[in-house]
Amino acid sequence: MDAIIICVPTPLDEYREPDLSFITNTARAIAPHLRAGQLVVLESTTYPGTTEEVLVPILEEGNGCGLKAARDTTANGEDEFFVAFSPEREDPGNDSIARRDIPKVVGGLNSQASELAATLYGTIFNRVVPVSSPAVAEMTKLLENIYRCVNIALVNELKLLSLRMGLDIWEVINAASTKPFGFQPFYPGPGLGGHCIPVDPYYLSWKAKAWDFQTRFIELAGEINSSMPYHVVSCVSRALSQQRKALNGAKVLVLGVAYKKDIDDLRESPALTIIELLQKDGAEVSYNDPYFPFIGKGRHYDLQMKCTPVDDVSKYDCVLIVTDHSDYDYRGIAQHASLVVDTRNATRGIHGDNIVRC
Ligand SMILES: NC(=O)c1ccc[n+]([C@@H]2O[C@H](COP(=O)([O-])OP(=O)(O)OC[C@H]3O[C@@H](n4cnc5c(N)ncnc54)[C@H](O)[C@@H]3O)[C@@H](O)[C@H]2O)c1
Repeated sequence: MDAIIICVPTPLDEYREPDLSFITNTARAIAPHLRAGQLVVLESTTYPGTTEEVLVPILEEGNGCGLKAARDTTANGEDEFFVAFSPEREDPGNDSIARRDIPKVVGGLNSQASELAATLYGTIFNRVVPVSSPAVAEMTKLLENIYRCVNIALVNELKLLSLRMGLDIWEVINAASTKPFGFQPFYPGPGLGGHCIPVDPYYLSWKAKAWDFQTRFIELAGEINSSMPYHVVSCVSRALSQQRKALNGAKVLVLGVAYKKDIDDLRESPALTIIELLQKDGAEVSYNDPYFPFIGKGRHYDLQMKCTPVDDVSKYDCVLIVTDHSDYDYRGIAQHASLVVDTRNATRGIHGDNIVRC
């Protein structure tokens, strides 16, 4: 092939530090087969410097025939291959934007690599946005995701304050969203999930340490977002005690375990932490999710639970809405459940003393 695109996972390891093993192993597998003139593009989300400091040396050292990545500082020769970074931009579950309409940022190791990558992606995407280096493209992706992470944390914190003040944060956000400039709505929830937003910011905070720099917004946002599952569990406990029930021994049905609505992705889902915390406090937890007939073992959990049908919700002490899948009949659920704790405002417009929004 003339072009090789690498888009393997970039998770955190057990110390919450970047785990680049998927990239390095893939690079080692590619290197012996490289030939002059080929283009290698990394798409995995990662810290600025990965392409140049990690990927390129493995490709150069591993090809065994002296091939070098083309740089602007070297005279173009016949023993060169080309390298670029181009972040993946995806919004799982969002069909409103065609993939070709999502502009593609491209940063080559030299101008020729940028041009080649732009030509390649130009056959697929309507707009290619060239930037001056792979590191700029890497940082662009992180800025986009950190922007989301920090703003979600901000709205989560304001939700906690609004709850204390007796204000409905959802009503506040809807009103603020009418401002035609300078405001973009973000929504609170039970915590962050998915492979990107809870993970990517830590790639930058790890790299920042090498520059003797503390990324305080990232740390604070992480602290707030990761405290949300604990907030949800204390809400359930408080709501039960208002009905003179204890969390210990209560039957709780968790509705939705995917990290966001209408998708089949469980990675880093806050539902997993919430289920574990509820179980630790003695609750009898069941779950329903049309996308997951079974929850087994993952990197950070081992639940071994089977999906329960949502038939008779009256048999539970609490129905906890964690993910607001479109399939659920929220009105019917609110009518028959003795207590509904709603972390997503899925019950908006439905009234009842048995509904607690948290
Ligand atoms: N999923 C998204 O919505 C999304 C959005 C933007 C950026 N990203 C980034 O894209 C990258 C990939 O994420 P993903 O969600 O597609 O991951 P994924 O877990 O779906 O894996 C992607 C592919 O990598 C392959 N793979 C895994 N290990 C491999 C190995 N050792 N060698 C070769 N191939 C291997 C898998 O088989 C799979 O086809 C990550 O860096 C992620 O942060 C993902």
